Amino acid sequence: MTSTDPSRPHPAWLPPEAFRAIGAHHTLVYGDGTLVDTVYDEVGRARARYGGTVRRLSGQATEPERAGADETPADLVLALAPTGSPPAGGALPAEVGSELGAEVAGLGPEGFALARRGGVTVLLAAAPAGLLYGLFHLVRLGPAAFGADRPVEAHRPALRLRLVSHWDNLDVHPVMGQVERGYAGGSIFWRDGAPAGDPERIRAYARLLAACGMNAMTVNNVNVHGTATRLLTDRLDDVAAIADLVRPYGIRVHLSVNFAAPVSLGELPTADPLDERVRAWWAKAAGRLYEAIPDFGGFMVKADSEGQPGPYRYRRDHADGANMLADALAPFGGVVHWRAFVYNHRQDWRDRSTDRARAAYDHFTPLDGRFRDNVILQVKHGPIDFQVREPVSPVLTAMPNTRLALEVQATQEYTGQQRHVCYLGPYWSEVLRFAPWGPGRPTVASLVAGPADDGDGAPAGNGGGASAGGGGLVVVSNVGDDHYWTGHPLAQANLYAVGRLAWAPDLDPVAVLDEWIDLTFPASATGDPDSEPGAGSDGEPGIGSDGELGTEPDSGSDRKPDADRETLRGTLHALMDDSWRTYERYTAPLGVGFMVAPGHHYGPDVDGYEYSRWGTYHFADRDGVGVDRTRASGTGFTGQYPQPWSDRYESLADCPDNLLLFFHHVPYRHVLRSGATVVQHIYDTHFAGVDQVARMRRRWDRIGGSGLVDAALHARVADRLAEQQRCAEEWRDQVNTYFLRKSGVPDAHGRRIH
Ligand code: GCU
Repeated sequence: MTSTDPSRPHPAWLPPEAFRAIGAHHTLVYGDGTLVDTVYDEVGRARARYGGTVRRLSGQATEPERAGADETPADLVLALAPTGSPPAGGALPAEVGSELGAEVAGLGPEGFALARRGGVTVLLAAAPAGLLYGLFHLVRLGPAAFGADRPVEAHRPALRLRLVSHWDNLDVHPVMGQVERGYAGGSIFWRDGAPAGDPERIRAYARLLAACGMNAMTVNNVNVHGTATRLLTDRLDDVAAIADLVRPYGIRVHLSVNFAAPVSLGELPTADPLDERVRAWWAKAAGRLYEAIPDFGGFMVKADSEGQPGPYRYRRDHADGANMLADALAPFGGVVHWRAFVYNHRQDWRDRSTDRARAAYDHFTPLDGRFRDNVILQVKHGPIDFQVREPVSPVLTAMPNTRLALEVQATQEYTGQQRHVCYLGPYWSEVLRFAPWGPGRPTVASLVAGPADDGDGAPAGNGGGASAGGGGLVVVSNVGDDHYWTGHPLAQANLYAVGRLAWAPDLDPVAVLDEWIDLTFPASATGDPDSEPGAGSDGEPGIGSDGELGTEPDSGSDRKPDADRETLRGTLHALMDDSWRTYERYTAPLGVGFMVAPGHHYGPDVDGYEYSRWGTYHFADRDGVGVDRTRASGTGFTGQYPQPWSDRYESLADCPDNLLLFFHHVPYRHVLRSGATVVQHIYDTHFAGVDQVARMRRRWDRIGGSGLVDAALHARVADRLAEQQRCAEEWRDQVNTYFLRKSGVPDAHGRRIH
């Protein structure tokens, strides 16, 4: 990787080198519109650096715009074909044009089709957004887009709404700071109540989001405090300014709103969603918003959750609340993301009958079919709160007449706070591929894609709101104003991966990591400008449960560029591929969750939440551990799942080991499906997890000073790995000691436990 200017944001997956292949060719861009302008500008910058040319033919302009030595025939054609018929003339080979034209007609506004014939690469899209996503697809392909012929390939996003939710506060919150659960510095949007004042960074961010496939974002925290309420009214210009910056990259701005805004702003005595004055107030607010931001996306609402205001105060339900806002936005085409994260956060820990895991289902499933078409119910992927291991939320399976969005968390609140390496692609991939009705039936990805996009057929009963299409994916951002965007440079991969998986949920997350590596650490920077990004990395060593971490780097002065690339790629895979499972090994065991320090949620505190009001307990005593959520003897949560999972989770014998303590309270000597006892499993995984972190650290140290990555980046990662190891050891020692003392069962291998 080339050194980067520390005073400017790190280029992440879009360093100039990523455009080398495109910039070295002769490009023709056909079409009009803001996003086509963006495509033209991107190619223009690349060609200025790498010696190619670019011409543009506009539907309106009679004379082509030209840049570079423009008489050279184009070998890359990027063309809009709104009616499916490609533009005539120019460099577009007629036969390829009509083949691709037939494809794009069915690919929607973001899709594109691509082929290479006779030395010309052609990319067609029906709408400008498709052309932009196509351009970034070519960036990922690199030289492979310009080699041998390529057959026609068609691409479209599986999920239409792909939104990044920023928990950025306008004012600095006394406890949560400028970004709630932010681990990467301040906000890129706000500083001390005012705009952050770095428009270039916002533009660069939109570009990164588009390049990984996201198309929307909220710019403020779901907990709407103080000044943030006024983004709707007298601070609207600040939102419009952000929208202007991100629009050229196809990103629509949404706002988190305070349900009680009419009251908080002192304009009405009530926020009752059925009160005509309230309805008129929101309709007017929406009108103002669309005047300022014609492509405004809509509202995100956290209502009646963790102290936020909502419709309950007026004896109305979530459908009343969400529909009122939906009606205000409907004339303009906006949507309401209404969060399903609703539970009793003032629970008495003595009360064993209340189960937080049940709450979202109990609150929302009776409302299925009552939400407007432009309401999206936003459901956290698990029933509790972004723990390192949770089952998929059963709400996703039980609301066939509601548009559903899956919410995941890139900010690593419970997964190491961007001080630990924790690549979450494999987790999200597992969730998206999970088939709640069993193999061959719809997956979570198809449920949030909605019936219109689901080639596999929707589960019985789909209709109503859901027929308007799925709600897609929402990810809580992990970005701040840190040089590397994400604090830990390797945490960039989480943002990249979530976009790619929202676009194509069946992608292999390790292959996605390869894409990220090749883009972020381009070949030219490791001494091999001609090597082909994307060339096979199959068979790279990851971290086996107890294996070593691949090969030594070749530190000799006559080393080969290819070997350098393989060393770097191998190192990054060794650190990252299995890092989510590694984190799981040294933290809360077998799906039981939490055991984190209260409040900030970093590091271990086994009983930290045990006698609290938050509803997150592990119930360890001298005999055993875990939460009985069975129908037979527990809270009945297993009954919220359809078959076969309802019975699998219910059964002690069939429940997957990694979720055993989520669903069952078992004795310490209970034998897992793996053959180990629960307590021995806890000891073993905690020792193994720490050993893995130590190996990751040694592996990273070995490439120090090699020039394979920028020295500053190397140092940042090395520092964080040291902290990860310290913290992992603390987790290991506290968890193992706790269970040794509770159970009195010694470690079968006689290792040191305190
Ligand atoms: C977690 C997190 C909060 C956040 C909440 C939410 O509970 O700790 O900071 O506000 O999730 O998703 O709304």
